[in-house]
Amino acid sequence: MSELKNKIIQALIDQKNIFGDELLENITRKTKMEKSFQDAKSLDELNKMICNCTNCVLGDTRTKFVFGTGNPEAEVVVIGEGPGSEEDQQGVPFVGRAGQLLTDILKAIKFERDEVYICNIVKCRPPGNRNPLPDEVSECIPYLHKQIELIKPKMILCVGLVAANSLFNKKESLANYRGNVLEFRGIKTMVTYHPAALLRNPNWKRGCWEDVKKFRSLFDELKSN
Ligand code: URA
Repeated sequence: MSELKNKIIQALIDQKNIFGDELLENITRKTKMEKSFQDAKSLDELNKMICNCTNCVLGDTRTKFVFGTGNPEAEVVVIGEGPGSEEDQQGVPFVGRAGQLLTDILKAIKFERDEVYICNIVKCRPPGNRNPLPDEVSECIPYLHKQIELIKPKMILCVGLVAANSLFNKKESLANYRGNVLEFRGIKTMVTYHPAALLRNPNWKRGCWEDVKKFRSLFDELKSN
């Protein structure tokens, strides 16, 4: 035990010699932020607490932090992967071409965009639209968890495999999710294609239509109970 303790102490001394107080200051700042954002009582308050986040490298390259948009009391939360270039410029999720398609998909199942809440797994744009890396997801996902806790939706729609695997912390295929009704912290959740994938492969639109029709039926059923 004392050998382990000595090793840890030596490692801390080495780190201090290399980084000075910077490392400790970063850990303290992160811990403080972690504590305080968990106390947020509203989405606005949460946004103010986290919008200057630099917990991962995406914070260095973003133009705008993309918190989320829509009804803070929405019955449906839609979760995408992460901001693209347009979203990074405007600070609003799903405003580019994929966003327009998402708006149309929602309309097709009788949800207005401002009636639901739309957000992403990561709040800052991954450079070149690459997938967010595991440590970026793990830094950012507590913010999404808090958003869901505050909104208390009846249902969640995940668009795309990255969103689904990040939310459920799994490594499944999209085929394993689609058509199934899952639960995230007691909230009924379904997964369909990402709208950007539908733009690249329009023949997947039929499958998406089946998924979202099922989503709408389940939503109506939950509402009538
Ligand atoms: N793709 C996403 O996953 N999210 C956005 O906000 C835009 C494009």
